[in-house]
Amino acid sequence: MSELPLHRNTGLDLVRATEAAALAAARWMGMGPRREAELTAGSAMATTLNSLELDGYVVIGEEGRLGGVASLPSGHSVGTRRGIAVDVLADPIDGRRLLARGRTGAVSVAAIATQGSMWSPRPALYMEKLVVNRHVAPALVPECLSAPAAWTLGLIARTTGKPVRDLVVFVLERPRHGDLIAEIRAAGARVMLADDGDIAGAVLAASPDGPIDALMGIGGAAEGLTAACAVRALGGGMLARLAPQSIDERDAILETGLDPDRIMRCSDLVASNQIFFVATGITDGPLLQGVRFLGDRATTNSLVLRSETRTRRIIIAEHLLEEAEI
Ligand code: FBP
Repeated sequence: MSELPLHRNTGLDLVRATEAAALAAARWMGMGPRREAELTAGSAMATTLNSLELDGYVVIGEEGRLGGVASLPSGHSVGTRRGIAVDVLADPIDGRRLLARGRTGAVSVAAIATQGSMWSPRPALYMEKLVVNRHVAPALVPECLSAPAAWTLGLIARTTGKPVRDLVVFVLERPRHGDLIAEIRAAGARVMLADDGDIAGAVLAASPDGPIDALMGIGGAAEGLTAACAVRALGGGMLARLAPQSIDERDAILETGLDPDRIMRCSDLVASNQIFFVATGITDGPLLQGVRFLGDRATTNSLVLRSETRTRRIIIAEHLLEEAEI
């Protein structure tokens, strides 16, 4: 595992990839589920990534749903191959259903880290996650993942000095979370239920000044790895464990030799501290404003995180659109 050079912020290059994907995806807002949205966003992200001075290996890219036409399939190379060697995570649209329905919270996301540093959850599809900010991170113990939510909320309350009733927990609204939501409510904390988009939820939970104190529950395993990059870059804390949702998924995990019971921290998911995480809003959301089209121009809002320096940048960009994009 060779370390990245420290003298430049590759994140400022990387953000052009999520900006391009968000601009392409945003055209399909509210149009119903559209394969074109995924294809154009993936292709826009791939084109930009391939122009960057990177020797990138896509640890997790667009999943099988796009078949052979995916621009960023897992296991492929991206970048000019002349640059620094990195692992790449690419999620041109996190929240495809949100985008299709014109709902808030769809984002385009990418992350890179020193090559060989990212753990791959494949073939796992689901992961249980607990994310907190840097004030709570030192108090996080593996038991938090198995303990009743009230216990973990008590720990967060003691660490932050906030009463439990002031806490807000981000949870994906899914039938599998019925008991968890009931436990959080019974403990007296408040819940932010989201239709989709737990990468953005994790970033909010890991941000020390955000509206959310914790993310709890089961979401995508790929999204968990991507979230770990952001959480590490923010200095937050995360516990994760694979959470197969079917016998087939559990069997596939066991066949690959992964331990479905292992509790992992951020540093197990991404072992380097040389991480860049970028996200651009597609639709408006609690993390980022979405794309605004203004005739021949469009604006984007992006977040750029660099783990080594803990820099957190918000970038508002105005783009002159090409004829074909207007
Ligand atoms: P996609 O945009 O790829 O569909 O992901 C949206 C998402 O909400 C993720 O943020 C989350 O991790 C995952 O789906 C949860 O999976 P499921 O919808 O199957 O519960």
